[in-house]
Amino acid sequence: MWRADDRRFIFVTGKGGVGKTTVSAALARALAGRGKRVLIAMCNAKERVSSMFASPPVGPDIVTVAPGIWAVNIEPEHAFEEYGRMVLKVPGLYRVVFHNKYIRSFLPAVPGLSEWAMLGKAWFHTTEVDEQGRPRFDVVLLDAPATGHGLDMLRVPKVIVEIVPPGILRRDAELAWKMFTDPRQTAVLVVSLPEELPVTETLELVAAIDDDLRLPLGALVVNGVLPVLFSEDEARALSTALDTEAGDRAGPSTPAREGVAAAARRAVEERSQAASLARLTGGTDLPRILLPYLFEDAATPAAIERLSAQF
Ligand SMILES: Nc1ncnc2c1ncn2[C@@H]1O[C@H](COP(=O)(O)OP(=O)(O)O)[C@@H](O)[C@H]1O
Ligand SMILES: [Mg+2]
Repeated sequence: MWRADDRRFIFVTGKGGVGKTTVSAALARALAGRGKRVLIAMCNAKERVSSMFASPPVGPDIVTVAPGIWAVNIEPEHAFEEYGRMVLKVPGLYRVVFHNKYIRSFLPAVPGLSEWAMLGKAWFHTTEVDEQGRPRFDVVLLDAPATGHGLDMLRVPKVIVEIVPPGILRRDAELAWKMFTDPRQTAVLVVSLPEELPVTETLELVAAIDDDLRLPLGALVVNGVLPVLFSEDEARALSTALDTEAGDRAGPSTPAREGVAAAARRAVEERSQAASLARLTGGTDLPRILLPYLFEDAATPAAIERLSAQF
């Protein structure tokens, strides 16, 4: 059994559309329900977290979206400036630097700098403390950007640690990388769907995180799992029925024939889902968390609440 509760930083990765934001929201809901203060950090995303929590829109400043849950939609430029303000403590100096036309056009073009601005900001929020010296947030959930599954982003601090000369940038990247590589503090969650292509991509992603980046994997979240309605025997019977009178597609359409055809299609989908799940189990020994496919809109507080039960 995998527990997210003691981690300070959780990356939610996976291909676009598999349900990363939904998973981030559901996990945040579960953790907040157990008394954690959770920050959901999105990366310059078309945010839908506000509909998941029925909250006002989430922009580049942190807002409360539910009891115990905060959210921010990090914009690289905004994050640069914040960072600049912290690093260049001399009042007004950051303005000279960050409002300089040359620097403004140059910064976003530095490879990885936008990624680091966003990731670095998310990490920075793990270091903040309140007046009592308690962490401002118990855990930061990073809803990774879709491109490159967010792996491009995760590579940046590693590269900075390896090649950037000593200084503030390198010091922060080192601190962040130390947290990201520590399995007691960080976990990477990989979100997938129980379908052939997503499973192949997920296994590649898991291998890249494990072998290449060497970051601590937490669990595999399989999203959109259909409840199994038909046994193997029933699936076979349905497929046979399709070839007989009851399901004969050449014959006139009757409710009975339609019913058999729909059931047979569903049984086929279930078999293919079972095969995909088996491939995932065979390909990695990570703990698995299965989230049901919801037939209603998944971006509502009720749906998020329901999914949160799996965490
Ligand atoms: N378990 C689910 N059942 C049904 N729909 C889902 C489920 N999880 C996500 N969705 C829907 O799928 C779409 C993509 O989910 P989202 O979390 O935005 O993916 P990502 O952040 O990876 O791009 C959204 O419309 C979302 O509401
Ligand atoms: Mg998303």
